[in-house]
Amino acid sequence: MGFPIPDPYVWDHSFRTFYNAVDDEHKSLFNGIFQLGQHDNTDNLAELRRCTGKHFLNEQRLMLGSQYPDLAAHTKAHDDFIHHLDHWKGDVAYAKDWLVQHIKTIDFKYRGRI
Ligand SMILES: [Fe+2]
Ligand SMILES: [Fe+2]
Repeated sequence: MGFPIPDPYVWDHSFRTFYNAVDDEHKSLFNGIFQLGQHDNTDNLAELRRCTGKHFLNEQRLMLGSQYPDLAAHTKAHDDFIHHLDHWKGDVAYAKDWLVQHIKTIDFKYRGRI
């Protein structure tokens, strides 16, 4: 349940946070998961892990800088996904769903507040 998963798995305007840097990073995560869905190999997994780590740190830095109240819970959600990538079992469907639901339910809460 939740928000629909784009097919093909590509970022669209319904995912806009209106922070250009964040939106560009989200596009890179969509692309990384798309690529992993095409070829589940160590190069694609490493690239997704790199983009994801970079994006989460950036988002957490923005929230910290504006004293965003839900930083701790948001960071926990990020850490859970990183853990999933670091113990990757090939579940691309999980990654696709996680990113969609995370952006539209958790990330969207900081819009206009960071
Ligand atoms: Fe987030
Ligand atoms: Fe995000």
